Amino acid sequence: MPGRDRDSLGPSEGYQSLRWDGGVLWVLDQRELPGETRYLQADTVDAVADAIRTLAVRGAPAIGAAAAYGLAIAAAPESRDELARVQARLEQAAARLRGTRPTAVNLAWALDRVLKAAEGAPSAAELSHRVLAEASAIADEDRRINRALAQHGQSVMPRRPSAVTVVHHCNTGSLATVDYGTALGVIRAAHEAGQALFVLVDETRPLLQGARLTMWELQQLGIPAALMVDGAAAHQMRTRGVDLCLVGADRIAANGDTANKIGTYQLALAAKAHGVPFYVAAPTSTIDLAMADGSGMVIEERAGDEVAVIGGRRMAPPGAAVLNPAFDVTPAALVAGIITEVGVLTPPYRDALAAAVARSAAGGGAGRVAAEGIRG
Ligand code: MRU
Repeated sequence: MPGRDRDSLGPSEGYQSLRWDGGVLWVLDQRELPGETRYLQADTVDAVADAIRTLAVRGAPAIGAAAAYGLAIAAAPESRDELARVQARLEQAAARLRGTRPTAVNLAWALDRVLKAAEGAPSAAELSHRVLAEASAIADEDRRINRALAQHGQSVMPRRPSAVTVVHHCNTGSLATVDYGTALGVIRAAHEAGQALFVLVDETRPLLQGARLTMWELQQLGIPAALMVDGAAAHQMRTRGVDLCLVGADRIAANGDTANKIGTYQLALAAKAHGVPFYVAAPTSTIDLAMADGSGMVIEERAGDEVAVIGGRRMAPPGAAVLNPAFDVTPAALVAGIITEVGVLTPPYRDALAAAVARSAAGGGAGRVAAEGIRG
């Protein structure tokens, strides 16, 4: 991008997944991409909740930041508002936003963080100020976190003159975060460092985040890529050769089991069968130490028409039953490493994940993350 300052907190692209301006959350409507770049104006809690539920804004870190700004809308003081009334509005808004998407832990994480910051505020004005400050901090930190994560991720990227082939699932780029991306951020940083790459992009049925969003981002970044159906990954591994898989995460349990977009698990199985290292890239805010393993994770079930209807045309016979889990859980045993903003975690994950969360908390945010990685 011409004139881009990599160290600034400004967006690294000509577009932004979300932007707070004058008491309003502007959301790039990802349902319309890549055809149209249209921003939605979300100036009520309901509008923010709808934007999250309908995937106008999506991707775990972006959902968390959007929800945090939703609380800022709820806490905006109206004339002569009493503290108790604003507090009640805040609690109601948090409950409404929390229910929009159950799998991405970043949503609950961001809401809880803002609610905690608001605790004990002595006045409505102070409460409102604290809520907006915390929401803004979450968004600003996400920008720094993703760049730190991307740098740590370079240690798992082969360096060589010929192109490195990467399989990527769903969308984990600037669109899925406040800026820069997680797994796609690792790919992007390698490209910016001069490594030749070829990205095999899973289309990511049913809502085509790979085809619509990841291909769009990769094209703008000038990174060579090809789109394929989700079922083609194993074939590509066997016939073309794949160096590594890089995916994001919606929730990582204390043992390393990882929830991510449906299809991730079968990609990990294919990678295991072909000896391809399978890496998860996620900020520490996606780690849920309260969840012992993946068996307790709530997997969002979405409407069957997302599967049965493509481009407005019904593909299945009327009345066909449809299963539409939006996520699946990849067992930790299939994951070669977890790339975070404090380093690359390698198995066994239990202690490494706890240490990463502690290190991130001790750093007081991504602005002060540790420079060296955690390995093992
Ligand atoms: O349903 P989505 O599009 O919100 O699902 C997104 C994913 O599964 C991503 O891989 C995950 O949230 C990580 S985004 C950095």
